[in-house]
Amino acid sequence: MAFSESFLTELTERNDIVDVVSGYVRLGKKSGSNMFGLCPFHSEKTPSFSVSPDKQIYHCFGCGKGGGVINFIMEIENLSFPEAVEFLAKRAGMAMPEEENDWESRKRSRMLSLNRDAARFFYTQLSTPQGSAARDYMAKRRIGPATAKNFGIGFAPDTWDSLEKAMREKGYTDFELFDAGLVRKGKNGGYYDTFRNRLMFPVIDVRGNVIGFSGRILGDGEPKYMNSPETLVFNKSRNLFALNLAKKSKSGYIILSEGNIDVVSLHQAGFDSAVASLGTSLTPEQARLISRYTNQVIIAYDNDGAGIKAAQRAIGILEKLDLKVKVLRLNGAKDPDEFIKLKGADAFRNLLEASENQIDYRLRTVTDKYDLSVDEQKVEFLKEASDLVARLPGSVERQVYAMRVAAMSGVSADVVTKEVERLRKKLVNQASRSEARQQSRPERQFQPEDKALRYDDPSSAAAEEGIIRLLYLDPALARSTALPDREEFSSPALGHIYSVLRDKIDRGETPSTATLGGALAGQEMSLLVSLLQKPELLSRGEQTLADYIKRIRDRKEQGRQVTDLRAFADKLRETKGYEG
Ligand code: CTP
Ligand code: MN
Repeated sequence: MAFSESFLTELTERNDIVDVVSGYVRLGKKSGSNMFGLCPFHSEKTPSFSVSPDKQIYHCFGCGKGGGVINFIMEIENLSFPEAVEFLAKRAGMAMPEEENDWESRKRSRMLSLNRDAARFFYTQLSTPQGSAARDYMAKRRIGPATAKNFGIGFAPDTWDSLEKAMREKGYTDFELFDAGLVRKGKNGGYYDTFRNRLMFPVIDVRGNVIGFSGRILGDGEPKYMNSPETLVFNKSRNLFALNLAKKSKSGYIILSEGNIDVVSLHQAGFDSAVASLGTSLTPEQARLISRYTNQVIIAYDNDGAGIKAAQRAIGILEKLDLKVKVLRLNGAKDPDEFIKLKGADAFRNLLEASENQIDYRLRTVTDKYDLSVDEQKVEFLKEASDLVARLPGSVERQVYAMRVAAMSGVSADVVTKEVERLRKKLVNQASRSEARQQSRPERQFQPEDKALRYDDPSSAAAEEGIIRLLYLDPALARSTALPDREEFSSPALGHIYSVLRDKIDRGETPSTATLGGALAGQEMSLLVSLLQKPELLSRGEQTLADYIKRIRDRKEQGRQVTDLRAFADKLRETKGYEG
């Protein structure tokens, strides 16, 4: 939904950026009016993350991330813009603006609050006398109380109507319980609890809503799991178990496993980025959801035929979204839960780290491409493998892997090592030549941190940045000058920022990170904040603005002339060819 300017302004006023950031980053006072701390978005040892209390923005000089308080929450809590707004509204005790209160959204929010109450009920049952069976089972599976709390694990008592009674007392009707899948209809027209005598795992979405449940039998028996049916709020193929926790992990990857118990075990052992696809095989929707939070997935499926097959399928789905995928081999255990219990968390960490060492993995991929018993293919393999090894930064590393390649192909280690070092020299020379070229063109340095936003024409981009800076700081300038069209901007990102900015100003709003945040992508917001850091003289604003505009148009004109010349030359060549 679109939020009004006044709502967003109040929201940011009531969530001071220093307060909010301090909840995640230890800030110390340093240069000028800015406070500094260690950037939570990349790892570093000296603080380059700055927060400006005056401007109410943050900016990291190391990784280039930046924005206002809403962007900070989006980034650190992995939320969308509206979700972050809701998060901050809650934090400040503000009511969200009224949506059109249609019947369905009321029903939805009733169901969510019912689910939440049911989860609380199950959780409290764990510590009652009748919860002893569940406590025993948890002890057997070595699920500790802190873990139970973290996941909200509970117990559905071995009765026909405990939940139904408790929820009716809270004012929910049988119809509501039925719609939420918490009760079923009996033959006599009454209702009975769906989940009985089961260990209850609430399924919580990334916004923190309890959307459904997964109940495991205590011990052996069928069915092993019972799950909430599809409801207004629960769709198995679009959610992942524990993603609400995993999205906050700093590990940089998501561990994808099959079972709820595996996920619980992994988190308990310190692997806080584990999720499971709720008993279905991974769906494209779930993969897309994962890709919002990470670009690397480590698959830790069960160590059986079905698990391997499922992993193959999942790899295909994940790689379509450009996610880097690794597969763990859980030797000697049937699943991650058993692996950790048998061999410990350190052994699992070793597995993960081994899988992060991509050299073996890449070497294996190269090996798999060729049949090394055929001479020609062996030659191709040697070329490709030597090239790969030559790119390794450490000389010891290169030596070790050169020997491995030699052993694989049956060629002498000496020959492979020499070939690798020859390629290495070539690469180093190439790199230093291109660096020299870069340095001879200083405008190359004027580039955004984010490589995806690289400027094609840094000279024009500098002026484009200037225009944005001026309009942001002094929106009144927009009225007085003939402003360029968005299409005149050479950088698509700057062009987009510019058009969003003008749109706000034209509607009479004051631009701020809050009002622009809904319309700008995260990387664009970072770019905006970083260009706002550069100095700009406002005293001669109109003149400066006119200069910037002229620069953009001059650059365009020059570009056109070059293209025209090229076309002219091409034509000459063509005609000549035609005559000759
Ligand atoms: N599942 C299900 N219905 C079943 C069996 C399994 O919905 N009858 C789902 C559950 O979400 C379960 C997942 O599939 O977590 C993986 O199944 P399984 O490996 O059998 O369960 P675990 O949670 O790993 O339990 P355990 O370690 O006790 O075997
Ligand atoms: Mn399992």
